[in-house]
Amino acid sequence: MKRFSYRDNELFCEDTPAKDLAGEYGTPLYVYSKNGLADVFACIRKAFSELSPIVAFSVKSCSNLAVLAVLRAEGAGFDIVSGGELFRAMKAGADPRKIVFSGVGKSDEEIRLALDNDILMFNIESEAELDNIQALAASLGTVAPVALRLNPDVDAKTNAKTTTGRKENKFGIDFATASRIVSNIALHPNIRLLGLDMHLGSPIYSTEPYRQALAKMSDFIRDHRSPRAHLEYINIGGGFGLLYRDQTVPSFQEYAQAVVPFVKAAGCKLILEPGRCIAGNNSLLLSRVLYVKDNGTRHFTIVDAGMNDLVRPAMYDAYHFCWPALSTRPPPAYIFNSPDAQEYFGLEVFYAESAQAGRAVGADGLRTTDVVGPVCESSDCFARARRLPPMDRGDLVAFFSAGAYGFSMASNYNSRLRPAEVMVDGGGSRLIRRRETLDELIAGESFF
Ligand code: LLP
Repeated sequence: MKRFSYRDNELFCEDTPAKDLAGEYGTPLYVYSKNGLADVFACIRKAFSELSPIVAFSVKSCSNLAVLAVLRAEGAGFDIVSGGELFRAMKAGADPRKIVFSGVGKSDEEIRLALDNDILMFNIESEAELDNIQALAASLGTVAPVALRLNPDVDAKTNAKTTTGRKENKFGIDFATASRIVSNIALHPNIRLLGLDMHLGSPIYSTEPYRQALAKMSDFIRDHRSPRAHLEYINIGGGFGLLYRDQTVPSFQEYAQAVVPFVKAAGCKLILEPGRCIAGNNSLLLSRVLYVKDNGTRHFTIVDAGMNDLVRPAMYDAYHFCWPALSTRPPPAYIFNSPDAQEYFGLEVFYAESAQAGRAVGADGLRTTDVVGPVCESSDCFARARRLPPMDRGDLVAFFSAGAYGFSMASNYNSRLRPAEVMVDGGGSRLIRRRETLDELIAGESFF
């Protein structure tokens, strides 16, 4: 089943017309494809099946309980980075033995909560953190399972703001320090060292950085394995690419071909922490056009979603394909580069940019417009100088590939209410988070 498709120029989410969803639940609205989530998860499992890995969905990418529960039912574990994400995962019925806890700044309270919940392991990011977890585990009379997150100093060639595996990044432990930790692990009697971890950045559109980093990890394991340091797990983190536009994304099989041989040769079990590639193309943000205006220099399409609802364009200059949900124009011509893209991503083809320009509707039936939100910031712009079919007040527009780091990064900036989220299953839909209310906006505040 296609997650999203145009049928007779009308956008469908699975078998449900987008306009019906907007009518029933209002806009802005995040729409998730339940079957798409399950399918993409199954594809990852299949690609890596030789190693039967723990696929720990990265909760930060999309943390709605219903999304977590759909993935949990498919066998997902969870990669968490806070007590809040642990709380969510457990509420969604997670198996704690499939939870890994990453992040450079875990608080004592979060560590205790994770120990109480008997999670699979902590991904440790510094010697100081290791000492602290040792002390907390000792005080609770327990043993903390950990992996060392190594910083392999590999360039994943991704956005500077989302690169994590270089020396200048705050993440992970350098090899010299890691070597000392492993050699002295007996000094930490309440720590059980289970393996190594890494996360190189996000999104990574090549398999090469994984190969480079895993070569370094494999050497480290060969040189440091001992009865006190079993190093039985390799966690490769997340970072698999997502198709946002006309770009080439390696298939899951290609990522697996890069990863599996190293992990097999090291005799290790595999953990993955994918987020973006699971949630990203299984959700879109539906928004309604409020006004259009032309200031003599530019044409603007002002929609009811803002940067508080989807911050990626403002924060990372991210490209999100957008198109009206109903259009007399033929649906966009899409071209997928990845051979498996149809299977994973649902959309049939990718939008071909028009060579034409101009604020008036051209011979291609499109006009050049800036799609902007209502937030009082110039960076509240979803699409700059985009060729789009003419839209007017009341029209619906969809921002695609919005499932990962979409709602999970939404805020109340400008005291805007965070949007509703809905999940579609074939021709049916269910609200999985209702729109915030004004009372919720000020809940917890009080007068001096
Ligand atoms: N594991 C760790 C330790 C991570 O830090 C991350 C993402 C992941 C796994 C999941 O990576 P993924 O498979 O989703 O690429 N807000 C940014 C992305 C930040 C990524 C942070 N870490 C964006 O919207 O592009």
